[in-house]
Amino acid sequence: MEKWINNDHYIADTLIKEDDGLTNALESRKEHNLFEMEVSSAQGKFLYLLAKIRNAKRILEIGTFFGYSTIWLAKAISDDGTVVSIEIDRTYADIAKKNIAHAGFSNNVNIKHGVALDVLNEMVASKEAPFDMIFIDADKPNYPKYMELSLQLSRPGTVIYGDNVVRGGRLYNENNADEKVVGVRKFVEDLGQLTSVESTALQTVGIKGYDGFTLSVVK
Ligand code: DHB
Ligand code: MG
Repeated sequence: MEKWINNDHYIADTLIKEDDGLTNALESRKEHNLFEMEVSSAQGKFLYLLAKIRNAKRILEIGTFFGYSTIWLAKAISDDGTVVSIEIDRTYADIAKKNIAHAGFSNNVNIKHGVALDVLNEMVASKEAPFDMIFIDADKPNYPKYMELSLQLSRPGTVIYGDNVVRGGRLYNENNADEKVVGVRKFVEDLGQLTSVESTALQTVGIKGYDGFTLSVVK
């Protein structure tokens, strides 16, 4: 565990140059005494690189928190690109908006304060244009529903990333009653059944402990 953390710091120090926008967001998390729940800097850069590889112009994020991953995603899109990010908590949404403004992305990021299932359903009903990339990172029990709605906001080639699916290694355990484990298991099993996406999952170690994510591409 200590090695995982030290290696992650080494990777961050060696490969990842955080600009003022990202650093300011991290400082705001400390200022407001929020949980250290955001993506690691290595993972933020990974999301940024994925968005670049995908040449994403429209990105959807489910779960903004204080906007750290949102800023990484906004950095990857061009000036005419958009990140739509949904946050249930008013305080988090307000902090994120400030951080995004500080980072210079107010024109490219739309923070939608609300219950993600409601906001997603509204976006589907109003025929929102499909997204190139979707980052699912909100409450784990709703992951299966987030995936269902994400597919309705996708098109062939859309990349869908599901955060924190490994649950400290408990993902495989069908007897685990933790609602987060139950939620991500259903999410992963749905991915396995869907004929409209191709998916994998990778386990990771680092400052966030023993973690992991799913990656899917819409056919
Ligand atoms: C949890 C949620 C996250 O988004 C995260 O990155 C790590 C942990 C959680 O709910 O356990
Ligand atoms: Mg997460």
